[in-house]
Amino acid sequence: MSKVLVSDSIDQAGIDILSQVATVDVKIGLKPAELIEIIGEYDALMIRSSTRVTQEIIEAGTQLKIIGRAGVGVDNVDVPAATRRGIVVVNSPEGNTIAAAEHALAMILALSRHIPDANASVKRGAWDRNSFVGAEVYKKTLGVVGLGKIGSHVAAVAKTMGMKLLAYDPFISTERAEQLGCQLVELDLLFQQADYITLHIPKTPETTHLINATTLAKMKPTARIVNCARGGIIDEVALAAALKAGKIGGAALDVFESEPLGESELRSLGKEVILTPHLGASTAEAQVNVAIDVAEQIRDVILGLPARSA
Ligand code: NAD
Ligand code: MLT
Repeated sequence: MSKVLVSDSIDQAGIDILSQVATVDVKIGLKPAELIEIIGEYDALMIRSSTRVTQEIIEAGTQLKIIGRAGVGVDNVDVPAATRRGIVVVNSPEGNTIAAAEHALAMILALSRHIPDANASVKRGAWDRNSFVGAEVYKKTLGVVGLGKIGSHVAAVAKTMGMKLLAYDPFISTERAEQLGCQLVELDLLFQQADYITLHIPKTPETTHLINATTLAKMKPTARIVNCARGGIIDEVALAAALKAGKIGGAALDVFESEPLGESELRSLGKEVILTPHLGASTAEAQVNVAIDVAEQIRDVILGLPARSA
């Protein structure tokens, strides 16, 4: 019988599918050396974002046929190394779209109304209404960077809240943007005009530190920026400096250059900064969706059926 190793926390719905065709071992929190020691026994590896599947792990996986990432980003897998060994890498491109979009929208509203700090203040025993006067998003301009699956849903909901929408995405047509109620513009114009900027792009060499001291300087001093995409798209040192200097109004980050977030100036800032621990996909619904989606693809490969690669 085939063997599958599940090395991150995956919804039981996925484990149940895998168990129909394979022996499934769930071993969470393995150190890289421990994973290298046991991976040779397995035909498939199922992960989320915590396991880093390096070239060394792939080379030790002499029986591996497939690596399944229960989520969108496969940036924690050395895909070229897997491809060289003929190991297919699959993901779930749509299973957590709504969860991530709703997290970005929650961040926009939480930043506008200082919800995390107001909540902490009441829980500490205070009743301070003056410190938490917020701003409305109605009639404000939202700049959506990346109008793919998540960016489109954010745009659709923001439109219903009465926001004006600008979008930057070099790979989509003006017609598609217009269908979504967005005006497609150059990035500089988006930076200059947006009251809120939300990032929904992959991390690539072109997007790494897209938000840096130079681009932050182009934004309104009241602009609020949200990153629920990937850490490293924002230069966090430059962001903290811009926030401290009052060059921009606020930031809400779900993803970080290094995760878990270590020492960071961002932690010391006030209600203008909201930080969450990579929770974009963390809804019950999304975790069932991605687990089923990826487990079905692993099952198909174990059964000898063709794979759909990431
Ligand atoms: P998608 O592929 O559907 O959309 C990405 C869009 O970005 C595409 O339309 C593409 O044309 C555009 N794009 C690519 N390069 C660009 C560039 N240089 N400038 C502007 N636009 C560019 O992806 P998606 O499913 O919407 O996911 C978006 C991001 O969210 C990804 O980075 C994904 O890993 C991340 N994500 C995070 C979480 C989380 O837990 N926080 C959850 C799901 C997805
Ligand atoms: C993804 O790429 O799907 C998200 O970042 C969520 C996750 O890490 O599971």
